[in-house]
Amino acid sequence: MNYYFAPLEGITGYVYRNAHHKFFPGTDRYYTPFVAPNYTKHFKAKEKQDVAPENNAGVPVVPQVLSNKADETLWAVEELAQRGYREVNLNLGCPMPTVARKKKGSGLLKFTDELSAYLDGVFDGLARRPSELPPVRISVKTRLGTDSTQEAEALVHIYNRYPISELIVHPRSREDMYRGVPDREAFLLVLQNSVNPIVYNGNLCCVGDVSEIETACRAVGKPIDSVMMGRGLLADPSLVRQCQGGSLISRQELGEFHEELYRQLTETLPGSAVVLSHMKELWFYMGQLFPEGSKCLKEIRRANSRVQYEAAVRVLLSSCRIERIRSGLR
Ligand SMILES: Cc1cc2nc3c(=O)[nH]c(=O)nc-3n(C[C@H](O)[C@H](O)[C@H](O)COP(=O)(O)O)c2cc1C
Repeated sequence: MNYYFAPLEGITGYVYRNAHHKFFPGTDRYYTPFVAPNYTKHFKAKEKQDVAPENNAGVPVVPQVLSNKADETLWAVEELAQRGYREVNLNLGCPMPTVARKKKGSGLLKFTDELSAYLDGVFDGLARRPSELPPVRISVKTRLGTDSTQEAEALVHIYNRYPISELIVHPRSREDMYRGVPDREAFLLVLQNSVNPIVYNGNLCCVGDVSEIETACRAVGKPIDSVMMGRGLLADPSLVRQCQGGSLISRQELGEFHEELYRQLTETLPGSAVVLSHMKELWFYMGQLFPEGSKCLKEIRRANSRVQYEAAVRVLLSSCRIERIRSGLR
């Protein structure tokens, strides 16, 4: 099985990816949060930094692009190819209102003619690239509908018309946001009808969740080779290692990983307030490792200086027990 780290905008930037890869090697690919080229065809400073080869050395990274315009996407693909990337992922899943309202991300899915025109433009453009340029694979990360996962059937027929290297499926609609559990039936329908390789994504939080999805795919006669994990892997950074037969994260390891992240973020983010808010967002996920740690986690949330924050983390790591996280599929 291949294990991919999902893109999580605002969290899994290059600092996080480097620290995770250093302390928990074994993740096969890290997808960047989306870069969004607009009509001006340039990357913002933060996006440039995130995909800069020198910030990603030795880490298997796939950059992600969010757009609904083929010319902008092709411009971004070329920029990324020049930086050495050989796969670019297209975001057809983002549910945020500011994105979806502009018919981007999962907001494009129900406009099937516009979706097809976009993909026609991208794949026709790629086919016309001069043969001396290095080839670039296009993978797609998609939800299964704008309003409902009943749009899945129409979507898979559209995706089947293109040589998508991998179709990463998060079986929720835009309307679902992150609520409830992913729609497994809709996922299996796509899996059975897709001519492109499928990757499962959504609510994988423990080893048992991955086995359950693997078994469900095998049961319909289409085993999968790859899964993508986001929030579950943020919550337990050792999840891939456990899926590969290794051990649960220890408090010491979490402490060292945290130390590295905190130090690197302090060097790269502007000011303590931003660093603390970033770290608190991470603890929103990693706190799940400490079912008896609610008091200490509250202290972390309430900390408004570095001194308070560091003290609260020390208490958590020295006095609270780590436990495996339970299934996210039910
Ligand atoms: C805070 C946050 C930021 C996200 N940013 C992105 C993004 O930039 N690109 C993307 O394709 N998906 C993004 N997602 C969706 C995740 O990649 C993933 O598809 C989703 O969380 C379901 O997988 P999970 O249950 O394993 O987390 C984001 C999700 C969250 C919670």
